[in-house]
Amino acid sequence: MEAAGAAMPTDPDLRHHGDAEVGDGLVDFAVNVRGVAPPDWLARRLRRSIEDLARYPDPARARHAVARRHGRTPDEVLPTAGAAEAFVLLARALTPRRAVVVHPQFTEPEAALRAAGHPVERVVLDGDFKLDPGRIPPDADLVMIGNPTNPTSVLHSAAEILDVCARPGRTVVVDEAFMDCVPGEPETLAGVSAPGLVVLRSLTKTWALAGLRAGYVLAPPPLITALSEAQPLWAVSTPALVAIEACCEPAALAEAGAWAAALGVERDRLAGELALRGLIAVPGARASFLCVRTPDALDLRERLRERGYAVRRGDTFPGLGPDWLRIAVRDRAANDTLLEALDDLGR
Ligand SMILES: Cc1ncc(COP(=O)(O)O)c(C=O)c1O
Repeated sequence: MEAAGAAMPTDPDLRHHGDAEVGDGLVDFAVNVRGVAPPDWLARRLRRSIEDLARYPDPARARHAVARRHGRTPDEVLPTAGAAEAFVLLARALTPRRAVVVHPQFTEPEAALRAAGHPVERVVLDGDFKLDPGRIPPDADLVMIGNPTNPTSVLHSAAEILDVCARPGRTVVVDEAFMDCVPGEPETLAGVSAPGLVVLRSLTKTWALAGLRAGYVLAPPPLITALSEAQPLWAVSTPALVAIEACCEPAALAEAGAWAAALGVERDRLAGELALRGLIAVPGARASFLCVRTPDALDLRERLRERGYAVRRGDTFPGLGPDWLRIAVRDRAANDTLLEALDDLGR
């Protein structure tokens, strides 16, 4: 008999992620981390934090810095070992009767809920992949949404998510791991204190810190208490807490903002160039990757690998099929090499 909440055998592999697609010296267009290393100023702060490693980590300063950055109170903030830990803590602490994951999106929220034994329903968006609040079952008491969404790169409006949130007793988790790709973050809910609203943020992508494990949860204080009780003691290391504090400083926010503006220009150019080669991106992309459709996607992915380029398959995302790929946006020079590889393949 199948365990409660287990994935169906025919399901896509929810635990497949872009990092499994790189290696062997391939040029990486599969993982969405920006750059190959954190900026020098941040690396220096991390190196200095090693001098404090004899002490157990204390999250107080990081909590205050995050609270200041988003206009919240420290008791609304919980530092976590990346957004990935936050999904697990939520799955441990919550007892949903009807949990809904809005797909296509990053698959760990669903995987974490299932691993904790919660049955999961999927609301699968299609067409332009924009959130339709009317599709959420009225009695869903836990709803998980990515914004902007991995892999579609679509940015949902804050108003629509608040609409989903406006049901008493419902918890809405908004994964904003890529929100700092959007200049000015007009649709973020990180600064909004509302019953049942949970926002997750990550340092991984923008600051090239995938190996550090740093992120945080913003939520009403009672839920923050419940999550911290579900969290292992000292789960977030001193260097990760130093990074969280540092990346909330005005100079870091300005740097991230400038990068987001430049990213947008290059992303839109790349989308245009890919379209000329028959790879059509989901319109309105706002994150650091493009979700593209082409009938021979899996075959093209293999042929790009043979030429030394890794792009991420789309078929492991519920709601996408074998004709989808996700392509990270790199700098102009790197993107041009991918376009040349496509040209060489006759695209
Ligand atoms: C949408 C999304 N959310 C969260 C995560 C996990 O981020 P972290 O490294 O902070 O655990 C990822 C990683 O790929 C992601 O794509």
